[in-house]
Amino acid sequence: MSPEATPLLEVQDLKVWFPVYGGILRHQVGTVKAVDGLTFSLKRGEVLGLVGESGSGKTTVGRAVINLHKPMYPDVELSGEISFRARQDSPAVNLNGLGRAAMKPHRADVQMIFQDPFSSLNPRMTVLQIIEGPMKIHTDLNKDARKERVLELLQRVGLQPQYAERYPHEFSGGQRQRIGIARALATRPSLIIADEPVSALDVSVQAQVINLMLELKKEFGLTYIFVAHDLSVVYHIADRIAVMYLGNIVEIGTADQVYRAPKHPYSKALLSSVPKPDPRSDKSGRVILQGDIPTPLAKPSGCGFRTRCPIAKPECAGLTLELEDKGKGQMVACPYVD
Ligand SMILES: Nc1ncnc2c1ncn2[C@@H]1O[C@H](COP(=O)(O)OP(=O)(O)O)[C@@H](O)[C@H]1O
Ligand SMILES: [Mg+2]
Repeated sequence: MSPEATPLLEVQDLKVWFPVYGGILRHQVGTVKAVDGLTFSLKRGEVLGLVGESGSGKTTVGRAVINLHKPMYPDVELSGEISFRARQDSPAVNLNGLGRAAMKPHRADVQMIFQDPFSSLNPRMTVLQIIEGPMKIHTDLNKDARKERVLELLQRVGLQPQYAERYPHEFSGGQRQRIGIARALATRPSLIIADEPVSALDVSVQAQVINLMLELKKEFGLTYIFVAHDLSVVYHIADRIAVMYLGNIVEIGTADQVYRAPKHPYSKALLSSVPKPDPRSDKSGRVILQGDIPTPLAKPSGCGFRTRCPIAKPECAGLTLELEDKGKGQMVACPYVD
């Protein structure tokens, strides 16, 4: 079997809806459709970049895959399928909505790196305690073996072994994110969801952390979902890019297709907001987005983007959107582009 024979992850029509309550009787007054019918798949060893404005549902997708919602929000409505195969020969399991106990055997296989390296590390724990935490829960390793792996991981992420006894406040942002990466690697996962892992870092440090993530991917055979709002960052690391708007993917394709030749009007607008290195470069094709992203509590009917779309037509209000192949696998959810 070729390594591509079984996808690592197949997400089919994923929905994550949060009920919203109001009034003194706490009646349900609405539903936030944070993710509303998402479909994509992920090959082993691939990096899928997930981009979109704040509020488009990127974090919710990541949390759904790692199954964090049910324990935090018992009344969340989840549907669809998150079919996961940790290894080539493991059976597929639907992670969506699994309870704590049922999820436990899979926790080690899917790990997360968080955006904010300042708040995601417990300030009262040493680096050793932070990184060995997931190993205590998910592996049978004894204390010595855990410590050995922590020291190894520290070295692998470019930190000195003697840092193990120090506390997070003693480190810079970039170093803390390296600690977060080491923690994510501690259980030998196959899938890592990185939710804006470099957004809080200085530009000069961003590149170092991304290059580290690329090296680790090769070395440990990892697969990434890499969330970011900065398209140039995503382009650097991703094999494919999915653009999200109001809980749906509006375009997905190879990094080159989406970054170099985006087709959906929303992807085009996102891209033209990326600063170009040459200020004299052609701005004639520039699309400026009007207004803010609507709330997922009251999504426009039909195409969710039509209220801000430069090529919207009256028919867009009644569209049932599907991702269509616009050539070479570049999938776009708009019937009016080619
Ligand atoms: N627990 C929740 N309850 C209600 N609404 C939520 C909850 N989590 C996220 N949302 C809403 O879902 C939408 C998508 O959020 P999020 O996934 O965080 O977007 P992004 O990561 O792209 O900025 C936002 O409108 C957000 O307010
Ligand atoms: Mg987010």
